[in-house]
Amino acid sequence: IDPKLDHKVADMSLADWGSKEMQLSEREMPGLMALIDKYGSEKPLKGLRVTGSLHMTIQTAMLIKTLHALGADVRWASCNIFSTQDHAAAAIVEQGLAKVFAWKGETLEDYWWCTEMALTWPDGTGPDLIVDDGGDATLLVHEGVKVEKDPSLLSRTTDNKEFRCVLDRLIVSAKADPQKWTKIAARIRGVSEETTTGVHRLYQMAKNGELLFPAFNVNDSVTKSKFDNLYGCRESLADGIKRATDIMVAGKVVLVCGYGDVGKGCAQSMRGFGARVLITEVDPICALQAAMEGYEVTTMAKGCQEADIFVTATGNYHVVRGEHMLAMKDEAIICNIGHFDNEIDMGFLEDTPGCTKVTVKPQVDKWTLPSGKSLIILAEGRLVNLGCATGHPSFVMSNSFTNQVLAQLDLAKNDYPPQVMTLPKILDEEVARLHLARLGVELETLSTEQADYIGVPVTGPYKPDHYRY
Ligand code: NAI
Repeated sequence: IDPKLDHKVADMSLADWGSKEMQLSEREMPGLMALIDKYGSEKPLKGLRVTGSLHMTIQTAMLIKTLHALGADVRWASCNIFSTQDHAAAAIVEQGLAKVFAWKGETLEDYWWCTEMALTWPDGTGPDLIVDDGGDATLLVHEGVKVEKDPSLLSRTTDNKEFRCVLDRLIVSAKADPQKWTKIAARIRGVSEETTTGVHRLYQMAKNGELLFPAFNVNDSVTKSKFDNLYGCRESLADGIKRATDIMVAGKVVLVCGYGDVGKGCAQSMRGFGARVLITEVDPICALQAAMEGYEVTTMAKGCQEADIFVTATGNYHVVRGEHMLAMKDEAIICNIGHFDNEIDMGFLEDTPGCTKVTVKPQVDKWTLPSGKSLIILAEGRLVNLGCATGHPSFVMSNSFTNQVLAQLDLAKNDYPPQVMTLPKILDEEVARLHLARLGVELETLSTEQADYIGVPVTGPYKPDHYRY
């Protein structure tokens, strides 16, 4: 780690292209542009350092631009080895909006180096605030503090390749400064977390009394999970599959594992293209929802023989396993849109003697099993929409990222104890409101009598917190 290193991106000559695409996305990101208008002169994040660990795309570049415009000193890494758009990373560096450590196609070792670089300022100390997606920046800080309290933990053995890289990083940083992470954690005012899987980790840490600083669960703002996870994936899943394989979806059988917000968007997308969609679920409520939308709900054991394309959207572990792969059709396509790469048991393919891999192009691999049957794996089992395409469109990310910035502003202003919080509904409604004009939406206005009759303020919030949308 050289904290004085300014940036590490793939190719600075892509900066001009990145800047032009950022400019094009402005009209599609009205929430972020409104925040720049409202707070750009006041600069409420002035003097504060923000570390981001979130897919370094054009949309994220606009989030960084917003944080910078509000006064923050920003360092950034991507939260996935394949999700960086190199032109976006270059544009941010060239415009001087943040120090970026991200490129498409990092190794796992690179990835954790980039995460540490984003968390380390030139004076060796860390950020005031974190924007996290999946919780890896938060994890590195927490694991760092844990091993500084008990250095014997550094000699742990692990079969988990990812965690091996985390430990290796911590071994290096312990040599340089045995109190590095304790000092970094002490400065952090809080984190705002983008996704279901990261939020899940935060609640677990809070439950175990391990959370070191307060956290905003941005995912569960309605204007995040009911839009990004649903409508975002409805567009970007197909984009990923098609850019990777050019396959005709119409007439195929697509099996979507998990019918939560992401699964609902994926299923609708594939049906929209004319596929026959099968769903697997463990939750009877989501299974019933899928059935009542007209999808066939089945088990992996049965569905694995029938589908041409498999999409995992569960946020769970080993949902597609070896026994399923053995039963699949020849040249079935398998991809994952959940946050981590363990929904598909890639270890089965990597460790089974006689399984061979041919890379068709980056992020598209054809694995041949000893039986001679082949399977097409996209993005090595990592997020297909960000690995094989460019993630969600700007408009939906503007909703998510407006929530992110509101959470950062709140953490900057208030001192909270370590706990997981959500943004108040009035702000959720405000995020939606900022996105209406772009779509030509006109709202009705409640009269005082009507507001009294249904028991809500004329200006909102219009629903109780338990309302589910
Ligand atoms: P969710 O909790 O709403 O849905 C997941 C569903 O999977 C649940 O209904 C659960 O019952 C089901 N499930 C769990 N284990 C299962 C199993 N073994 N078989 C079948 N179903 C199972 O979560 P959400 O918001 O839909 O997110 C899913 C994943 O996608 C998370 O990892 C999240 O972080 C990620 N995500 C990815 C995005 C992307 O752009 N690629 C965008 C938003 C979220």
